[in-house]
Amino acid sequence: MDVECFVAGGTGFVGQHLLAGLTARGHKAWVLMRRPEAIEQLKEQVHRLGGDPALIGAVHGDISQEGLGLHSADRLRVSSASIVFNLAAQFSWGLTLERARAINVQGALNVARLAADMRSRLIMVGGFMLQNFEHLAAIGVDSQRPENTDWPAVYDRVGGYEASKIESHFTVISFMKQRCADYTIVHPATVCGHSCSGHITRGQPLADLVRNLAQGRFKAIPGSRRHWLPLVSVDYLVDMMIAVAVDHTMVNREVLALYEHTPNLQGMLERIAQVLGVKAPQHHVPITLLKWLLALPGVAARLTLSAESLNFIQTQRFDMTISRQLESKYQLSHPDMSQALERTVRYVKSHLSD
Ligand SMILES: NC(=O)c1ccc[n+]([C@@H]2O[C@H](COP(=O)([O-])OP(=O)(O)OC[C@H]3O[C@@H](n4cnc5c(N)ncnc54)[C@H](OP(=O)(O)O)[C@@H]3O)[C@@H](O)[C@H]2O)c1
Repeated sequence: MDVECFVAGGTGFVGQHLLAGLTARGHKAWVLMRRPEAIEQLKEQVHRLGGDPALIGAVHGDISQEGLGLHSADRLRVSSASIVFNLAAQFSWGLTLERARAINVQGALNVARLAADMRSRLIMVGGFMLQNFEHLAAIGVDSQRPENTDWPAVYDRVGGYEASKIESHFTVISFMKQRCADYTIVHPATVCGHSCSGHITRGQPLADLVRNLAQGRFKAIPGSRRHWLPLVSVDYLVDMMIAVAVDHTMVNREVLALYEHTPNLQGMLERIAQVLGVKAPQHHVPITLLKWLLALPGVAARLTLSAESLNFIQTQRFDMTISRQLESKYQLSHPDMSQALERTVRYVKSHLSD
């Protein structure tokens, strides 16, 4: 069954692979672009990633604008899409509350409104920390009654990116419920490159971690032996997103895309260091101490490490029941993640090392 989709964030790392995955399965995809003149490059990239560029059409817009800033002709074009994927986000550390909210919260709400108006299913990408309920409580998020959360205080505690992703999650769910509109949320772990090619893009957290280790900036292991940074390959994530998008049992539900056997951070750093041919850090440093050090003038810039990124290194284990059910229903499985990580490291080394 071919379906027509609308994709916001299709030019990003996960978005490029999603477009490849959708079009390889014969689905037509309208992609929202802030710079539609770059459509030919995007099509070439989708072709390189195994998709069918002939099935992609671009519309000009920006999620932070009302109605995504779509012209009426484009609004009409995308109205035949029965699935709306939102992967658009300002994904960086050090965002101000205003900037993070304008794109990640108001923008996500604008995409949700379009989906609800079109009676299309919204597939939203959250993040695995939204399933770490202890962490949410610790940073002051009231998951049961999100309207009671003091959001500016949460932005102060964890920074603009993470806070806005959490706020947008609850805001969009509340909006979709009010509109009686369908949504499904996929929560990825930190995304690793493609399991065959290792393809990953500049600015991805894992690519930055590999570059920091290669350049000798990683002097110690943040946290204890129990700390880990869960990973998922971009190909598994895309397969999961496409599966849930057409699964009626997943309406108004959430699922994790996360490889629960990701080694602890020490093991992961050792594996990356081995592929790079550098020495892995040996000693652990408590995350609270590291955050304190990073607050000192110049330290974060010298180490090219943001305190915000450390929140994702944690000890929580997750309930994978729904993911496992979907894996068996759709014969999805994680690729060999040790190999996927190795290929990602090699990709970063040969393509993104400058
Ligand atoms: N990668 C991870 O490790 C990870 C883990 C958990 C969750 N996630 C979530 O997964 C989603 C996709 O992440 P990603 O890694 O693919 O991010 P990415 O590579 O940074 O891509 C972000 C995308 O958002 C678009 N965008 C940003 N601002 C926009 C605006 N105002 N209007 C329209 N489009 C806008 C960008 O378009 P331009 O090309 O115009 O800049 C780009 O297509 C995000 O929601 C992220 O929070 C990612």
